Amino acid sequence: MRLVLLGPPGAGKGTQAQWLKERYGIPQLSTGDMLRAAVAAGTEIGRQAKAVMERGELVSDEIMIGVIAERLRSPDCARGFVLDGFPRTVAQAEALERLLAERGEKLDAVIELAVDTEALVERIAGRFACAKCGAGYHDRFKRPAVEGVCDVCGGTEFVRRKDDNAEAVRTRLQAYAAQTAPLLPFYRQRGLLRTVDGMAPIAEVTAAIRRALEDIAG
Ligand code: AP5
Ligand code: MG
Ligand code: ZN
Repeated sequence: MRLVLLGPPGAGKGTQAQWLKERYGIPQLSTGDMLRAAVAAGTEIGRQAKAVMERGELVSDEIMIGVIAERLRSPDCARGFVLDGFPRTVAQAEALERLLAERGEKLDAVIELAVDTEALVERIAGRFACAKCGAGYHDRFKRPAVEGVCDVCGGTEFVRRKDDNAEAVRTRLQAYAAQTAPLLPFYRQRGLLRTVDGMAPIAEVTAAIRRALEDIAG
């Protein structure tokens, strides 16, 4: 299964990718996570991306396409993948198409998570993650079962993202509208776009994605 999750910041791409990777046994390719890891490790790409990400702007197509081209070569991507946060521009989508065509592959579906802007801001404001394993939580919508303890790894330290402040969120929403939303007609034209109501509770969104993918599998 080769999937793309498309949606504005806070739509639930990371949350749903978590389920998809388990369901289909495919890796989650989150360019945001890869960049945050590069920043933390202080690599050349991390140095170039840090300030851009903190402002909420997009990192250059050249860097992102390079990162994904390399990641797709790993053996664990041979049976598919779920892309979370890539492509984000038409140039990235065209590059992805070329990269896959070179391998005789193509996408199976692009799932759009549609969420109102007010809900996005609320989701981002309440988001936090386990410092140890990265599992995602929310102050209101997804608290750990035991207060202060990660459900997944038992970690007790949590972190909030640097670009989850009001100003950077505004810039991220603008970047989505201007640079990423054009991917909706791009993929609709190719018959790949499946839009899911991302306003529903997490488990209902998961169920809607499952139905959409069962439809495709026939
Ligand atoms: P990235 O990390 O991809 O951030 P983003 O697109 O802004 O998306 P988020 O991770 O904020 O949201 P999400 O959709 O994953 O939502 P989540 O599941 O966490 O990118 C960060 C930056 O990196 C970019 O700004 C850019 O600078 C750079 N970058 C990355 N990729 C790039 C690329 N390809 N090109 C150029 N630059 C790139 O959910 C949010 C919260 O809501 C969570 O707390 C969750 O628990 C909760 N939640 C989820 N679903 C629901 C629900 N249905 N109901 C209630 N709560 C929910
Ligand atoms: Mg995410
Ligand atoms: Zn954890």
